[in-house]
Amino acid sequence: MEPLGSGTEDNLKHPDDPSLQFLPASDSKKLDKKKLVRLIVAIVLVTLAVVTALLIGLLVWNFHLKNDTRIKKVFGGSLTVANWRFKDSYEDSNSVQFKELASHISKQLKNMYRDVSLLSRYYVNSDVQAFSESHDGSVIAYYMSEFNVPEDQISDLSKAIESLMKVMGPGQTRRLSLNRKPTNDMLINSMIFAVSGNQRQSYRTRAGETGVIKSPGFPDSYAANTYFEWQLRADPNHILQLEFTVIDLENDCNNDFIRVYDSLVPNENQVIAEECGHYTHNEQLMFLSSGNVMLVTLVTNGEHHFPGFSAKYSQVPAEIRGCGGKLTGMKGTFTSPGFPSSYPPRTNCVWNIKVPEGKHIIINFSRFSLTDPGQRPDSCTKDYLEVNGNRICGEKSKDLQLIIKTNETDIKFFSDMSYVDKGFSADFESYNPFDRCPEKFQCENDACVSKKLRCDGYDDCGDMSDEKHCDCDESYIKCKNGFCKPKYWQCDGVDDCGDNTDEENCRHCKAGELACRNGRCVSEQKKCDGHNDCEDGTDESMCAKSIVLTCSEFTFKCKNNICISKQNPECDGHKDCEDGSDEEGCVCGTRPYRSSPIVGGETASEGEWPWQVSLHLKGRAHVCGASLISNLWLVTAAHCIQESNRYSGPEEWDVFLGLHSQTETNTANTVQKQVKQIICHPEYNPLSNNDDIALMELDSPVTLSQYIWPICLPSATQVLPVGQSVWITGWGKIREEGQLASTLQEAQVRIINETVCRQLIEDEITPKMICAGILTGGVDACQGDSGGPMTLTDSASGRSFLVGVVSWGEGCGRKGKPGIYTRVTEYRSWIREAIGI
Ligand code: ARG
Repeated sequence: MEPLGSGTEDNLKHPDDPSLQFLPASDSKKLDKKKLVRLIVAIVLVTLAVVTALLIGLLVWNFHLKNDTRIKKVFGGSLTVANWRFKDSYEDSNSVQFKELASHISKQLKNMYRDVSLLSRYYVNSDVQAFSESHDGSVIAYYMSEFNVPEDQISDLSKAIESLMKVMGPGQTRRLSLNRKPTNDMLINSMIFAVSGNQRQSYRTRAGETGVIKSPGFPDSYAANTYFEWQLRADPNHILQLEFTVIDLENDCNNDFIRVYDSLVPNENQVIAEECGHYTHNEQLMFLSSGNVMLVTLVTNGEHHFPGFSAKYSQVPAEIRGCGGKLTGMKGTFTSPGFPSSYPPRTNCVWNIKVPEGKHIIINFSRFSLTDPGQRPDSCTKDYLEVNGNRICGEKSKDLQLIIKTNETDIKFFSDMSYVDKGFSADFESYNPFDRCPEKFQCENDACVSKKLRCDGYDDCGDMSDEKHCDCDESYIKCKNGFCKPKYWQCDGVDDCGDNTDEENCRHCKAGELACRNGRCVSEQKKCDGHNDCEDGTDESMCAKSIVLTCSEFTFKCKNNICISKQNPECDGHKDCEDGSDEEGCVCGTRPYRSSPIVGGETASEGEWPWQVSLHLKGRAHVCGASLISNLWLVTAAHCIQESNRYSGPEEWDVFLGLHSQTETNTANTVQKQVKQIICHPEYNPLSNNDDIALMELDSPVTLSQYIWPICLPSATQVLPVGQSVWITGWGKIREEGQLASTLQEAQVRIINETVCRQLIEDEITPKMICAGILTGGVDACQGDSGGPMTLTDSASGRSFLVGVVSWGEGCGRKGKPGIYTRVTEYRSWIREAIGI
C-alpha cells in the first residue's frame, strides 16, 4: 500500500507549471480520445451516484416512509350506560348535557383502548354522535372511534377490535368509572367497522304521524360516490316501522346499496337488511327495529344514475308487535311479530299451545321464511323456530306442516341481532289422534289429502301412500307394481309406472318388426341396411351412415339440395352430406371450457349455460331470458317485447351476457350490451301465444368466452322425441307466488306427448308449441323465465341445441300442467330469412 501523498510528481504538478509538457495540438485525435475516456468515466460515476441515491431512497421509503403511510380507519359502535337515566336533552347534540356525557364516554373509550397496546398506539379519538333511550330508561350511546393505522397493520387492528368485542361484547358488563361518579357500569353491546365521512339527517317520529325519507335527487337521480344516512328515532317503548315505497337503484349491490340498521350508527353487526336493484312490489317491503332507533344508509359509487328510493316511517308501540303467549282452544293462528312485514331483530318469544285433553296438535304454515345470509339451513343458529327441541329455519314451501302428538307444546321464535326476513304465519288445530284426517285420506306420513286424490297416478302424500293398494277405474291402467296411472300416459315414451308397464306393447307392429313413421311395419333386420324399406326413411334414419332419399319432412336437406336419411345429422361430428354442409358453422352449442327461476330447479354452476342471456328493462330489473345464437343475435319470446306494446323499442333494453347472479352484473365474466334492433315474429298472436318468438340484434358483436357462447339452432327436421330430457334455465320466479331467483336456476324436464298435453291444458296447443314438464308438478319454468332457452344436449356429440323458447303455462309447476314452449324447429327458415343464420 502506498503512503498518503507519495504520489508521482506528475500527479502533483499544477497545469500552469511550464515544465508540463502538453501534447502537440496537431495530435488532436489523441486529445479527443482522452476527453472521451474522461467523459465516459464521468457519466459512469454520475450514473452510479444516481442509482445509489435511488437505492438508498427506496430503502429509506421501505423502512420508514412506507410504514408511515397511515390510513384512517373508523369503527362505529354503541354502548349502554346501564345506570344512567336518559334525559330529553341528550337528543340535542348542542345541549350542555349531551356534551358533558359525550366527553365522559369518549374518555372511557380512550381508557378502554389504552389497555390494548395495538389500539392505543394508533388511536386518534372518539366521537359520541348520538344518544337514545333504551327500553328501561337508561342511555345508549352511539360513537365512532378513529384510528390512524399503517396499511399493513389494518387487519391486526381489526382483530384487536374483534377480541376487545369478545370481552366487552353483547351481554358483557364492564365497570368503568366516570369522573366524579366512581361506580358506573357500561354494558357494551357492539363495536364494529363503520363508514367514515357522511351526510346525515335526523328524524324524530311522533305518535300517529308518518314521515317520509327520500334519497337526494329522488325521483330524478342520486349522485355517484356518496354516502348518506338517515337517523330515525321513536319514543321510548316504541319501535320504528320503515316501509319502502320505491327502490330503484343499480342492480349490482356491490356498487350502490341501501342498508337498514337496528342502531343509530352503521354497525355491521346490526344490519337488518340490504337492498339494491329495482323493487317490484311483489310483496310489501317493510322493516321493524328492535328498539326506538333505526338508521338507513345509502352508499353509491360509479357513474350510473338511478332514481333512488323513497320510504315511509312511523312509530308503533313496542307491545303491539309483541309475540308469544298462551294459545288455547280447538284452533287458532299465530304469526311472527309484525307479519306480513319482516320481523324485528333481537326477538325471543315463546307460544304455549294447549288443546283439549286427549287431542293432538297440527300446525300448518301458510308462509315460512326465516333466512339469514350467515345461516346454513341445517344449522339454524341465527333466526329460527324451535318446536319440541327441533329448530326449523330457511325458506319452506307453502305447505309446511307440523304434527305434534301431545295436547300441549311450546313454540319458540328467535331472531338474532342482524338480518331479518318475512317470518311465518301459522294455524294450529286440534285433532283426534284416533281419526287424524276426518273425511280425508290419512297418508302413512300422517299428512291428510283429499280422498279424490287417492289412486290418481300422482304422489299427493309425498310418500306415495295415496297411490298404494289401488283398484284402478277404467280411465286408468293398472301397473304391475300396483299403481294406477292415467290411460293417456300409456305409450307416451315415459315410464310413468316405474316398472315400464305403461310403455309395454305400445307398437302395432309384430315382435321383430320396426314401426315406420308412416305406419308401415318392416322387419327389424332391414334397419340400416342401406335400403329405404319403410319408404319414408325411418329404417335408415337412426344409422351411423346416411342414404340419399327423395326430400320429405323426415329428411335432412344438405346445402346442395340433396336429402339424406339420417336423423339430426347436423353438428354430430360426422360428415353426412357430400358437401359437408351438415357440419358447417358448428362452433355453437359447446361449453368451451366447461369445468364441471325455474320452479323446483337448482342453482346452475357459473358458465354452465353460456348462451343464457338476461334481458333487463333499461337500468331496471331482469324481466326475460334470451339465448345467444351468434356473436350478434339473440332469440327470445315475442311476448317479452310486445307485452301491451310497451317494450318494443330497442332502446328500452339492457342485455346481460355471461351473467350468473342478478346482484352481480358487473363481474369480469359479464358483458352488458345495448340492442340495435328487434324483429318480432310478424304473426305473433298475444291471444293464442302462437309464434311467440323474436330476434334481437346486439349493438356490437360480443366477444365469446367461457361464459359467453352461442347455442346451435336445430335444423327444421330435427326430431324431438316424447320423453326426451331437456334443460330449462332462467332467473324466473322460484314458486308461482314467489320471487325472482337471484342466481341462474336450471331444471330438467321431459317432452310431453301432444295429445296428452291437449287434454291437460285448457288453452289451445298448436303444432308450433312444445309441452314439457314433470307431470307430477313442482318442476317448471315460471314468470321471468320467458324468452329463455330449452336446451337439448346431444349425448353423443355433447352439442346443445335451442329446441324451445319459454313461452307460457297455467300457473307454475302445478300438477298435470306442463309448461309450453315455442317449437324452434318451426322457425328455422324464418330465422334464416330474417338474419341469415
Ligand atoms: N310467460 C312467462 C314469462 O313471461 C313464462 C311462463 C312460463 N310458465 C310456465 N309455467 N312454464 O316469464
